[in-house]
Amino acid sequence: MPLVHTAVRKVVMLGDPVLRAETRRLSPAEIRLPEIQRLIEEMAVTMEAYEGVGIAANQVGEGLSLFLMGLKPGSERWREGIDLTVVFNPEMKFLGQETEWDWEGCLSAPGLRGKVERHTRLELEGLDREGKPFRRTYEGFPARVIQHETDHLMGKVYLDRMKDLTTLAY
Ligand code: NI
Repeated sequence: MPLVHTAVRKVVMLGDPVLRAETRRLSPAEIRLPEIQRLIEEMAVTMEAYEGVGIAANQVGEGLSLFLMGLKPGSERWREGIDLTVVFNPEMKFLGQETEWDWEGCLSAPGLRGKVERHTRLELEGLDREGKPFRRTYEGFPARVIQHETDHLMGKVYLDRMKDLTTLAY
């Protein structure tokens, strides 16, 4: 896909109110609008430019319920990689009680890492980039990314989820 004319957006830093506001859900018709399709492309190149695994629309200043995730296979973070996934209006259902602790960071708080407890398995429902409904189960690192990004869309960041700030590190 040619991305040469697609702009890398500036990522909003922690402290900007847009990261603390709930985002607006979109209808399938809105999702198909050219400006929303362009936003998807811009978020994809921005995520790549910043070497992120996920990005929420409010992280580029747009208060819309949309996130992207993706990771090339072979990464130390998750060997299998994650296909580029576009999710509007995400709804999570946790599967089972199992949780795990692992490190997280955020493009909106550069340099920081902290350990966060997340559910291991979940079912994700939402609309894809064409506005079509989908439902899929995830576990492990991709499930963690989904929880992190869905939090963003509710005005939360991973630091809010940390139960013990002693693991917070540069
Ligand atoms: Ni983040």
